[in-house]
Amino acid sequence: LIVPVITIDGPSGAGKGTVSQILSEKLGWNLLDSGSLYRIVAYAILKNHINLDDQVCIEQLIKSIDITYNVTESSTEVLLDDKNITNYLRDEKIGETASVIAANEIVRGYLIQKQKDFAKPPGLIADGRDMGTVIFPNALLKIFLDASPEERARRRTKQLQDKGLDVNIDEILANIIDRDQRDRNRSISPLVPADNAIVIDSTNLSINDVVSYILESYALLR
Ligand code: C5P
Repeated sequence: LIVPVITIDGPSGAGKGTVSQILSEKLGWNLLDSGSLYRIVAYAILKNHINLDDQVCIEQLIKSIDITYNVTESSTEVLLDDKNITNYLRDEKIGETASVIAANEIVRGYLIQKQKDFAKPPGLIADGRDMGTVIFPNALLKIFLDASPEERARRRTKQLQDKGLDVNIDEILANIIDRDQRDRNRSISPLVPADNAIVIDSTNLSINDVVSYILESYALLR
């Protein structure tokens, strides 16, 4: 059984999350937010006060944790050993830690099958950094969604301000540049467009423009 997959890769803040969410609703397909898996592992590592360089402890930890998703029509709950941790995952500290441990081979290896398991009928929208290059190399359609670091910092700042948080755009920009640097330059599964990916620069595009463009590209394939 071949399940159609659309991969949406790109740096943080390019709009992948929102675009993927809308696409999965419009097509009625499953959604994989692969960053959340790295965030769950980061949460577990921080919670257990494990040193980020401690390979042995990290390996023991990932072998012992149980990750489950409770998907309903209106929400997705993430459970770590039966505890609902959904609300903790978007924290900056967790994102930062996730991007450090994402360079760890043991962690990436452990998450491969978990990600592949999301490919279920009628289809999958897979959001991440290496969806088209490593996890779903045979995907039907591969998108690489980018935007300038300044625009991504503006969007992220607005998102956080809308949540009522007091944030500094310069700090956010520095953070974005730092994370890009790590994601693009790591030796294992670096952030690069797949050879056959369509690259979309969303700096001057709205979310709707991006969604329409992807849906049109998909329609052309059928
Ligand atoms: O997308 P999100 O910000 O939730 O991802 C958190 C971190 O997880 C990223 O900075 C990246 O380092 C890592 N990640 C990854 N591969 C993926 C998804 C996320 O390395 N497929």
